[in-house]
Formats: sequence, C-alpha cells, structure tokens
Amino acid sequence: QWLEWEATDLQPHFFGLLLDLNVIQSILINLCFVLCVQPALLQALHMAVLHGKGSEVSKVLQGPLNYLEQSLSKGNTPYLTGVQHQHLATALPIFHCPFSERTSVKAWFDRGAVLHSCESAAQKVLQGKGLQGMKSYMQRQPAPQSSQSRDTQPCNSNPAEIKPQICLFPISLPHEGKRNLLVTSALPYVNNVPHLGNIIGCVLSADVFSRYGRLRGWNLLFVCGTDEYGTATENKAREEGLTPQQICDKYHAIHSSIYKWFQIDFDFFGRTTTEKQTEIAQDIFWRIHKHGFLIEDTVEQLRCEKCQRFLADRFVEGICPHCSYPEARGDQCDKCGRLINAVELREPQCKVCRQTPVVRSSKHLFLDLPKLEPQLEQWLEKSTSTGDWTANAKQITRSWLRDGLKPRCITRDLRWGTPVPHPDFKEKVFYVWFDAPIGYLSITANYTDKWEKWWKNPHQVELYNFMAKDNVPFHSVVFPCSLLGAQDNYTLVSHLIATEYLNYEDTKFSKSRGVGVFGDMAKDTGIPSDVWRFYLLYVRPEGQDSAFSWADMALKNNSELLNNLGNFINRAGMFVTKFFEGCVPAMELQQEDKKLLALVGWELQQYIQLMDKVKIRDALRHILNISRHGNQYIQVNEPWKKIKGGDTERQRAGTVTGVSVNIACLLSVMLLPYMPTVSQTIRDQLNAPQSCVNTMLQGTGTFVCSLSAGHRIGTVSPLFQKLEVDQIEALKKRFGGQQVFDVYDA
Ligand code: 2FM
Ligand code: ZN
Repeated sequence: QWLEWEATDLQPHFFGLLLDLNVIQSILINLCFVLCVQPALLQALHMAVLHGKGSEVSKVLQGPLNYLEQSLSKGNTPYLTGVQHQHLATALPIFHCPFSERTSVKAWFDRGAVLHSCESAAQKVLQGKGLQGMKSYMQRQPAPQSSQSRDTQPCNSNPAEIKPQICLFPISLPHEGKRNLLVTSALPYVNNVPHLGNIIGCVLSADVFSRYGRLRGWNLLFVCGTDEYGTATENKAREEGLTPQQICDKYHAIHSSIYKWFQIDFDFFGRTTTEKQTEIAQDIFWRIHKHGFLIEDTVEQLRCEKCQRFLADRFVEGICPHCSYPEARGDQCDKCGRLINAVELREPQCKVCRQTPVVRSSKHLFLDLPKLEPQLEQWLEKSTSTGDWTANAKQITRSWLRDGLKPRCITRDLRWGTPVPHPDFKEKVFYVWFDAPIGYLSITANYTDKWEKWWKNPHQVELYNFMAKDNVPFHSVVFPCSLLGAQDNYTLVSHLIATEYLNYEDTKFSKSRGVGVFGDMAKDTGIPSDVWRFYLLYVRPEGQDSAFSWADMALKNNSELLNNLGNFINRAGMFVTKFFEGCVPAMELQQEDKKLLALVGWELQQYIQLMDKVKIRDALRHILNISRHGNQYIQVNEPWKKIKGGDTERQRAGTVTGVSVNIACLLSVMLLPYMPTVSQTIRDQLNAPQSCVNTMLQGTGTFVCSLSAGHRIGTVSPLFQKLEVDQIEALKKRFGGQQVFDVYDA
C-alpha cells in the first residue's frame, strides 16, 4: 500500500524539504524535513510556509496524521511496512504540527530525522538558508491541488468530484445495500492499567466479533479509545505528581500498547480529551437544552476549602449515619451496605487532606429522564425485539425502568472535563457519564470527517456496543436519552452485548487490596498473546459469571490447544509432507468421509449461527469439536499404516490425508477471530490461498475444499507448547497468586 502510494501519489519534485518544527509559532527550533509530500501535506506546507497560516495546518493534517499514527502503532516495524532506510529518503512525509497525541508518528519522525539520506536531502533543499531556503524552494514549485478533491482520508470530497484513483487511506464508511456495522467497545478509564476482566469484557470481545464480521464480508468500523476526564484522573494526577494531561498521555500509551500486544484490531483507537469531543458534546448539550430536556436544580455538596474543590462522594469519609461505622464512604457504607448521601455523613473528612469539608450549595443541570421516558420506551421496545441484546442487558434495563427514571445530574464542579458551554454554569464540566459515550462519536470524528455517515444514519447502520454489565444502564438508558433528547437522527444501539463478571481464581476480584493479572503482565509471562486470547475467550463470562484460573489455563492449553486442535492440524500437515512429498493427494470420498464432512459442515453452521448472535464462547466450542472429529477420523483410518499397503490402501491414506488437511484449512479461518497469529501460521504452513479467508465464512456455511489435489503445502511445525505445572505455579506466584483486585470498580 505504501509502495503504491510512493509510486503514484508522491510528487517527485517535492523531494526534500526542510522546515521548522514550529514554523507556526517560533522559527527554527527544531529542523525537520520532508522527503515526499502527499497532497494534504503539500497544501499544509504552502499554508504554513508561504502564507503564514500555520494555525490552519492542523486541520488539514489531522486525518492523515491520525491514520499514520495508527498505522505506525499497529505494526511492529520502526518504519512504515516495508519502507527501509533507503526508501525512507523518498517516503518520509514530514509534519510540523503538534505531535502531542501522536507518539508513534513522533518517534518515527525522530528516527527518520537522523538518517543520513534524510539529512542530505534536506540540505539539498535548504542550502544552508533555513526557512528562507525552504520558502524559495517552495515558491519554485507548482501550487498544490486542494485535498478536498480526493476521496481518501485527507479529503472531505464531494462525490461528484472524485476522480478514479487509488485510495490512499481507505476509510470505512457505510455503503448502501451492505450490512454496515458500527462496533464500539466501552471506553476504558485512562487512569488504570487494564486487566484481564476489562480486556475480555470489552476490547477483546469486540475485536473477535469485528474480525468475524469482516470475514463475513460485512462493512464494519470498530472504534474505541480511552475515557480520560473526571475526578479519578484528577486524583491519579495528584497521586503521581503529574498534571491530568500528563496522566492521560501516559496511560493512553499504556492502554495502546497492551491492546496492541493482545492484537486488538481497532480501526481507530482514540481518546476523549480532544477538540472534537468538546465540539460534539457541546452541540448535543445545546440541542437537549433547546428541546427542553434539561432541568436546573440546587444541590448540597461537600467542599474542601483547603483543596479548593468540591468532593466527589467517593472522596469523603466519615461515620455512617445508619450503623456508626467510622470509615463509611460518601456514597456507601461498606459495613451495613446502605447507600449514603455524602452530606449525611457524621464527622466527614476530605480523603486527600483530612480536613473537614463544608456544605455548599451549587446549581446543576439535570437531564430530564422522566420527560424522555416515553420516547425511550418506544425505542427500547423496538431495539430489544429486533436486535441482539444479551439477557443481562435486557434485564438490567427493565429493572431501571421499573424503578422509575429520575432526573440525572450531568454537570460537575470539576476542572478536568468537557466545559459546560452555558454561561450560567461556566465553572462546571460535564459529568463523565454524560461525556464518555459521546466519545464514541468524537473518536469516530477524529478518524473521519464523515463520521456522521455512521452516527446519524440509523437506517443504514447497526450499532453494536460491547461492555461489562455494570455499564449497561448508561448505554441502554442514559446515553440513548441524551441522543433522543438532542433530536438529530442519531444512530442508537441496535445490539447491546454485555458480559457478566470474570472472577479471579476462586475469589472475587477486588482492586483495593492489591495486584492481579494486568494487561502488561500477560506479555511478561512468555505465554503467547494468542493463547491468552484463547483462554480468556474460552472462559468468557457469557451468560454467567466465570473465573480466570492459572491451573485451568494450563489445562486448556494442554488439552484443547496442544492435544486436540494443534495435534490434528499438525498431523494433517505432516502426512502431506511425509507421505505425499508435500502435495495434497487426490481424494476419492467414501461414505465415512462424507459422514465426517457432514459433521464438520454442521459444526460450521452452528459456529456461524452463534457468532452471528455474538455467542463468542459457545462458538469456540464448535471449532474444537471439529478438530476432535478430525482426530478420531485419523485415529480410526490410520493413514500411517495404510500408506505402507497396496494401491487401494495407499489411495485411502491419500483421501484421509487430503480431507484432513482441508479441514485444517477451514479451522484456520474459523480460528482467525480468536487467534489471529496462529490462524495465519496455519495458512502459511499450508500455503493456503488468501481467497479461502475471504470466502469460507460467507453465506450460511457450506464446507468447501480449498486445497485441491496437487496443491503444494509449506513447512509444517508444531503450533503450541505444553505449559508445565511448575511453570504455571511459578507464574501464578509471580503474577497475581493470592492477590486480588477489583475488575469492575474504576
Ligand atoms: O467502565 C468504564 O471503564 C467506563 N470508562 C466506560 C465508559 S463507556 C463509554 F460510555 F464511553
Ligand atoms: Zn481536602
């Protein structure tokens, strides 16, 4: 893709430009250079260098930069895929606009800047005259075409103007006549390192479904990002002696790298602290306001004068008014379990500085849920009956409605949040739970300017929301009410997929008391990412709570992956290699083979039906059933003996081998959503054509042989390794053992 770009899109006359990293604000702080310029960039350079309109540059470059950031952070190479040092001299675009949110681009840029080829190209252009050299160079070049005429990411084109050309940054948009799926995973709080519970509940489940959807040929966009505003971030910042922004930057990078390790294939992984977020959240707010769905009310709150802030309920401690427990929190007493209103606590203390807070009243805005309820119910009725809502999602939603909706406060006396634009509430920000789901929209807007094609298109788009069950009411009641109240034809959730809880070993996860298995530790265990994915999906809390257990992980690795799946695929491949010189033998199907193929076909259909309904854990069982059938088939037919017999027997060994290796190929495709690396390895070993990936899971699932007689396979080797008892014991001690943490309490 990049080479194509280089050949067709780069403008050869723009062969090396040096410009100031901060052309916009100050001159020549840092020298950077452009070796190849693509139109958006070229336009940006003209704006900045020739017209002095540096401030407009980031608008033009936002799309390409975001795309580049994602491409770089996904791949494992220091440069764009396949671009080596020499190529870099002709393929290194340069950016002088803010790097702050784009660490991968920045790192890539820094690596490029010191390369000899880049330095010399830069000198050629600048001729020692710095920015002036750059200017004169640019003046000699033809003016750039506007990026507006391209239907690639830098563009916001009018379809009438699209010229036939290759798509530089293929952006996923809904298409008429296609199944258009918008997939979101709950936006993880930025102030924590995510752990296994978070990972299986949201990003991993959404990833498996998205990968599956793409195999099905659906047109799909998968977005996620970090949820960055709120008290929790402010407190974390205080704890670590950083600013909230620094905390967000730090943890956003941690989240990204963990998800990258887990091979979560987002189309875009953004964050909520962006300009788009402010723009869209404020727009939604004004619309709700205009349509009369906001109520003003005064609230009594505790304020710590020493810390100069209002205290969120969780940050006050005192004596429980019900049971006199001395360490009750402002929202709940851990002893008697009763809910508390923070101002009722006796002898309240600020958790940060231990001063006694004072009661202050403060005016707030409330979303009028009771007034929106009729609209909500009407929509819910339709969505839950036509879409796939998990049972817990329906039940939690029903119970919220049964209790009756109350107005919900959407403003907070905080600094770290999206500002409330209303002049009477100038000092306030939006409550995180009003703000966060709007992140889905703003993150999409940071991915493409045409975000509304996804988010204001309820008739063409099906929205899938993935989350753990504690997030359900915000996605089924509060957020839909915000969007309904805003009345702008928003896409509301069609399928709400909520997991139950994942426990840790035989105890409940509890954050407050220590460490457990966090995303960054998984990598250090030496167990491959695919195996982690497999086990988490195998015990996915689907329909009921489940538990992560080290011993069980080892057991499932050894029995299901090694002895069942891996063994079957390896044997099939080895027979081809050993008995048939690496070429798939001719097959003459007999009754027994047909019976097996019928069984395999049935399992495949079950898999498809379940996956279509997002029953990810259940569908996985059918993959394992297929390899179990396959192992039995090999065991009964003993091709290793028959190969030594007469013609008929040898023929039989050939058929059994051919059938088996074709089933192995099917398994590789079915496995792809769960274990993307293993899936690819199998196809590499079988030298399978790419086309099988694109066709096998389309339609209702009929098994077709994709490796015909004569096909030469590649080198076969074992796919999995045994996990030994002492090894797993050691890991358990090192990473979590008795320690416990709370998966869901942020
Ligand atoms: O529970 C959580 O981790 C929240 N940050 C989820 C937010 S989901 C969406 F609304 F952004
Ligand atoms: Zn205080």
